[in-house]
Amino acid sequence: MENSSGVYAVSDRLVIRQFALHDVQSFYQYRANPAVSRFQSWENYTYEDAEAFVRKQMAHSPDQPGTWFQYAIALVDSNQLIGDCAIHTLGAEPRIVELGFTLAPEYQGTGYMHEALCSLLDYVFGTLDKHKMIAFTDVRNKKSIQVLERLGMRREGHLLQNYMSKGIWVDEYQYAILQSEWFTK
Ligand SMILES: CC(C)(COP(=O)(O)OP(=O)(O)OC[C@H]1O[C@@H](n2cnc3c(N)ncnc32)[C@H](O)[C@@H]1OP(=O)(O)O)[C@@H](O)C(=O)NCCC(=O)NCCS
Repeated sequence: MENSSGVYAVSDRLVIRQFALHDVQSFYQYRANPAVSRFQSWENYTYEDAEAFVRKQMAHSPDQPGTWFQYAIALVDSNQLIGDCAIHTLGAEPRIVELGFTLAPEYQGTGYMHEALCSLLDYVFGTLDKHKMIAFTDVRNKKSIQVLERLGMRREGHLLQNYMSKGIWVDEYQYAILQSEWFTK
C-alpha cells in the first residue's frame, strides 16, 4: 500500500504521501485562507486545529470503512506540502470511496491537482481495487467542477439543498467514475 517512507503514489512533479509534523504550518496557512474554505465545511481554522488534524492523520491508515484518510500532496523536488486529497471509504459499502481535495492558492492554476488526482485514482482503482469513486461539490464551486470533469467524472445528480454551508442550505452535484471507466479512458 505504501513504502517505508509513507509514499502512496508518485507523478512527474508530485508525491502523494502520509502527512508529517513539518507540514503543519503550510497546512494551516491554506486551510485558514477564506478563499480556500469558501465552499468547505470549516471556517476560522486555527493553528491548533491544523496540528491536531495532522497528528490524527499521522496515526491513521487509509481505507478504514466509515472514515476519511487525508493524503498530503507535496512537490517531488522539495517535499513542500502544496495541498491534500482525501478518500472516505463508505461504512455501508467499502468498495465505494468518496473524494475530497484542496490546493494552496499559490499552487493553483498549473494542473497540480489534476496530476495528483490522476495518481490517486490509479492508486484507488489499482492498488486499493475500488469499484467506484464519488464526489460531491457545491454547485457554485466552478474550479472544483472543472477538476472533477477534467478527470472524466460524470455528473450523476443535482441534490437540492443537500448541505448546510456556513448557515445556508446549498445544492450539490454528485459526480462518479467507475473502476472500469478509469482504466478504459
Ligand atoms: C478546486 C481546486 C483544487 C482547483 O484548483 P486548480 O488549480 O484550478 O486545479 P488544477 O491544479 O487541476 O489546475 C487546473 C488549472 O491549471 C491549468 N493547467 C495548466 N497546466 C495544466 C496541466 N498540465 N494539466 C491540467 N491543467 C493545467 C488548467 O487550464 C486550469 O486552469 P483554468 O481553471 O484557468 O482552466 C482549488 O480551487 C481549491 O483548492 N479550492 C478550494 C478547496 C475546494 O473547494 N475543494 C473542492 C471541494 S469539493
